[in-house]
Amino acid sequence: MTHIFDRFKLTGHVAVVTGGAGLLGAEFCRTLAQAGAAVVVADVNQAAAFEVARQLEDEGYRVIGSGLDVTCPESTQGTVEQTLQEFGHLDILVNCAAIDPKFDPQHVGPGSSGAFEDYPLEAWKQALDVNLTGMFLACQAAAKPMLAQGAGVIINICSMYGLVGPDQRLYQHKGQPPRYKPVYYSVTKAGVLGLTNYLATYYSGKNIRVNALTPGGVFNGHDNEFMEAYAARSVLGRMAEKDELNGALLFLASDASAYMTGANLVVDGGWTAW
Ligand SMILES: NC(=O)c1ccc[n+]([C@@H]2O[C@H](COP(=O)([O-])OP(=O)(O)OC[C@H]3O[C@@H](n4cnc5c(N)ncnc54)[C@H](O)[C@@H]3O)[C@@H](O)[C@H]2O)c1
Repeated sequence: MTHIFDRFKLTGHVAVVTGGAGLLGAEFCRTLAQAGAAVVVADVNQAAAFEVARQLEDEGYRVIGSGLDVTCPESTQGTVEQTLQEFGHLDILVNCAAIDPKFDPQHVGPGSSGAFEDYPLEAWKQALDVNLTGMFLACQAAAKPMLAQGAGVIINICSMYGLVGPDQRLYQHKGQPPRYKPVYYSVTKAGVLGLTNYLATYYSGKNIRVNALTPGGVFNGHDNEFMEAYAARSVLGRMAEKDELNGALLFLASDASAYMTGANLVVDGGWTAW
């Protein structure tokens, strides 16, 4: 009889993580590598992707970096071809690349209020391009080898703001001009769930499972005012640590979730349960 832990093993599997150099992407790359997969760290920030890959290689894992712009069909195709050349197959695609408006000290700058009435059309179009079209293109490119080999797993990273609207009070700071989580974030993340359901049912009978993973807010050096406001609205009373999505990611990537497709695994500290 199979031991339950064996179902979480990814030995012999090959994974591509888009946005693999980001806060969560790098965590997912390490998790997949630790479970035994060969991993392609793919990111538009090529230098950062290579650095994440180098660190994991130094730790003894089979990992390569890949420059990838998910908005460009040639680029998504190129990363898939690079993966097939290097490792022979592609079993797991984690779609993590996104434009994600941040409110930690590194990212908040002047002129980025995010107010809906004046939200720039160009910024809206760019976000749809990366967060939705980019995911569509990455899925298209990865699905071909998955279909040919008769198996595959796709995990699309959503957000709790794809399920509920942002509580904009979180982003207001005393004595500072108002700022808002922008409209594109909720819209594109809701779209991620549509794409997930579409692909899950489209690949019925093809042994390609497609699921979404929905994180809540992840701590990344946010200031105390934000942290306290967030904690007061969170069932678990805090933000997630960056490694607290890894268990769910591995579950979805592995045979531990073999009977799951078209689902959305919500790991939001209870945010959407109130
Ligand atoms: N951090 C959070 O609190 C949080 C919460 C909920 C959901 N999420 C989602 O999790 C995912 C990862 O978030 P994160 O916090 O690691 O974000 P991040 O900004 O740290 O990482 C995103 C990565 O995507 C890359 N990227 C951007 N545009 C790209 C493109 N055109 N092609 C390829 N790569 C591109 C960036 O270079 C970056 O490395 C995102 O989908 C985000 O929406 C994050």
